Amino acid sequence: MLSSLFNVAALALVADVAFGAAVSSNVANSKTAGSTASDIFPPASTKVNTALFPDESVVGFPGPTPTGKEAAAAQTAPIYPYNSGAAQSFPLAVPQPHGSSGYGDKFDITKYWGNLSPWYSVSSADYGLPEANPLIPEGCTINQMLLLYRHGARYPTSGAGPSTFAQKVHNATASGFNVTGDLTFLADWTYKLGAELLTPFGRSQNFQLGVEYRQLYGELLNNFTEQDALPVFRTQSQDRMVKTAENFAAGFFGVPEYLNQVNIEILVENSTVNNSGAPYEVCPNSNIATRGSIGSTVANKFANNAFNATLARLNSQVSGALNFTATDAIEMLQLCSYETNALGYSKFCGLFSEEDFINYEYYYDLSFYYNNGPGSPVSAAQGKGFLQEWLARFTHTYPDATSALNKTFDNSSTYFPLNQSIYADATHEVVVLDTLTAFNLTALFNGPPLSATGNQGSNTFVASKLVPFATHFTTQIMTCPSRNQTKQIRFLVNDAVVPVSDSHAGCPVDKDGLCPFDTMVNVLQKRVAEINYNYDCFGNYTASAGVNYNGRAPKS
Ligand SMILES: *[C@@H]1O[C@H](CO)[C@@H](O)[C@H](O)[C@H]1NC(C)=O
Ligand SMILES: *[C@@H]1O[C@H](CO)[C@@H](O)[C@H](O)[C@H]1NC(C)=O
Ligand SMILES: *[C@@H]1O[C@H](CO)[C@@H](O)[C@H](O)[C@H]1NC(C)=O
Ligand SMILES: *[C@@H]1O[C@H](CO)[C@@H](O)[C@H](O)[C@H]1NC(C)=O
Ligand SMILES: *[C@@H]1O[C@H](CO)[C@@H](O)[C@H](O)[C@H]1NC(C)=O
Ligand SMILES: *[C@@H]1O[C@H](CO)[C@@H](O)[C@H](O)[C@H]1NC(C)=O
Ligand SMILES: *[C@@H]1O[C@H](CO)[C@@H](O)[C@H](O)[C@H]1NC(C)=O
Ligand SMILES: *[C@@H]1O[C@H](CO)[C@@H](O)[C@H](O)[C@H]1NC(C)=O
Ligand SMILES: *[C@@H]1O[C@H](CO)[C@@H](O)[C@H](O)[C@H]1NC(C)=O
Ligand SMILES: *[C@@H]1O[C@H](CO)[C@@H](O)[C@H](O)[C@H]1NC(C)=O
Ligand SMILES: *[C@@H]1O[C@H](CO)[C@@H](O)[C@H](O)[C@H]1NC(C)=O
Ligand SMILES: *[C@@H]1O[C@H](CO)[C@@H](O)[C@H](O)[C@H]1NC(C)=O
Repeated sequence: MLSSLFNVAALALVADVAFGAAVSSNVANSKTAGSTASDIFPPASTKVNTALFPDESVVGFPGPTPTGKEAAAAQTAPIYPYNSGAAQSFPLAVPQPHGSSGYGDKFDITKYWGNLSPWYSVSSADYGLPEANPLIPEGCTINQMLLLYRHGARYPTSGAGPSTFAQKVHNATASGFNVTGDLTFLADWTYKLGAELLTPFGRSQNFQLGVEYRQLYGELLNNFTEQDALPVFRTQSQDRMVKTAENFAAGFFGVPEYLNQVNIEILVENSTVNNSGAPYEVCPNSNIATRGSIGSTVANKFANNAFNATLARLNSQVSGALNFTATDAIEMLQLCSYETNALGYSKFCGLFSEEDFINYEYYYDLSFYYNNGPGSPVSAAQGKGFLQEWLARFTHTYPDATSALNKTFDNSSTYFPLNQSIYADATHEVVVLDTLTAFNLTALFNGPPLSATGNQGSNTFVASKLVPFATHFTTQIMTCPSRNQTKQIRFLVNDAVVPVSDSHAGCPVDKDGLCPFDTMVNVLQKRVAEINYNYDCFGNYTASAGVNYNGRAPKS
């Protein structure tokens, strides 16, 4: 049998074959009361083409897929996940931190988990636009929307800290240890997590995002009906990425309608292929300690000093062949996040104080600021693929590859349409942050470079606001007749409108974060030109923490 890459390559050769031969299976839909044929989606003559857009089993490259144990929170959780009405993290059962009075919901620990936080709405005021609101400003009409979103909650990646901690406890069991107090549960604790895959809660996050975006932008589907075409939504080949796009589509189009109303394009993730959604695969400097991963080093250094008080308490509650280090503190905090996201609750959460959760978030702030934000010398290069694709879509010009994008795929009206009213691409959180850096949205990183010793609060950057599970970066393009330049654009991250007047030359100060479309395109084209992908990803240079590189490598 041919390898799946060959299948994909072969498919590219027939890219110009028109898809959607006339089929009338949706004619019944066009009789809905109060509607005309032109505002019924899907258009009557369209059909999903699984030959051109094959599913996961054909594309391959799913990555590791170990499943975990089933959750049984109804039986074993210490608290019930009551739905208080609007909480984003429902149905997770989340305790108050160690040492808190236990009254009310004063401190939401889920907002201090960095990239393991469930996404939550961020205020525009956090970045300097106190009057802005994600609704389309009065007098303007939305025409196009682009969404770049992350998968929902997943298990730890293969070989990550939590499984090492489990192994350590397991090893200690053989020699014997005793636990008391807060740690009593550890005597019977077992590791139940799989790896890499979406959790049930994670599925719901992408499904809900689909529901939300259908409610917000569904009317734009009529444009597909006018063009007699179905949308192409893109994702990557890892199993969780495929499931992410499917859950999003299920929320957006409905079950089972999503099977017939959108072509889901699965791009292979492997070290041998260009892919704007997995650029680190082809950017060698990405994983070099003095280049793309300085954040990991500085974050670990910070963690070595941050949890001593709690470690002293925990070590006083264990005897025998087990004791805990700073690495264990991080791994137990991660177990708090992962078990909650996968099993519905975690007894590890109650071991840590409010201060510990604040330090845990800062650990992730450091890691992401210096690995994928402005403190990284490769982040802009890695985000450049999406930036070029964004420009391609909105200027109707196929992109050249001066980045990790695949120009063969992106030079096809089938695989990379340039005329959609709605675009939706799924990716990883590191790529979302790389992209925000490539777009030069510096209001998200306003302030001095993050201090390695923990001077929290002096920079607007907070990892859990930008890279949580199901994070999303939205472009709104609209017509505003009352303005001199009627075509306007703005950017949102998790509902916060991002100001661009300080970072994008020619964009005026605007309380709604709007900028004339042509001005924005012009600035972003300059940004593309200044990001040197080959040097940043392949060059021989040394970078260090404590510097704002604007995401680009220093010269030598
Ligand atoms: C647990 O024990 C095994 C076998 O001795 C060893 O290879 C492994 O490194 C230990 N793991 C940890 C985390 O201590
Ligand atoms: C995927 O990448 C690995 C190296 O990481 C390589 O050995 C393998 O040939 C690649 N597969 C394909 C089909 O390109
Ligand atoms: C680009 O995509 C095509 C499939 O359309 C594939 O054959 C080719 O190997 C890819 N090239 C790179 C460099 O990723
Ligand atoms: C925390 O503990 C580590 C390891 O014992 C020690 O090296 C460090 O100095 C301590 N830090 C503080 C701030 O007490
Ligand atoms: C654990 O506690 C039991 C009962 O007090 C005692 O017999 C045993 O020696 C202890 N084991 C360790 C490793 O401390
Ligand atoms: C921690 O546990 C290890 C393994 O049992 C032991 O060798 C070491 O002495 C312990 N350290 C402390 C500070 O108790
Ligand atoms: C896209 O394909 C056409 C036709 O093969 C070619 O002429 C053009 O140069 C390509 N554009 C890019 C940006 O690769
Ligand atoms: C893959 O990326 C490299 C680096 O930007 C580029 O030189 C090459 O042309 C790309 N290949 C494709 C098929 O896009
Ligand atoms: C549909 O969208 C395309 C691409 O944005 C645009 O050119 C066209 O004007 C739209 N049609 C309508 C009726 O809005
Ligand atoms: C629109 O253009 C006119 C004439 O150039 C100028 O006086 C006015 O300030 C502009 N208004 C806005 C909102 O930019
Ligand atoms: C990016 O933003 C910074 C200000 O934050 C600005 O100095 C720089 O010129 C911008 N780059 C581009 C290409 O606009
Ligand atoms: C990178 O630069 C350093 C310092 O100039 C030099 O020692 C090293 O040999 C260079 N490495 C490569 C692969 O060029």
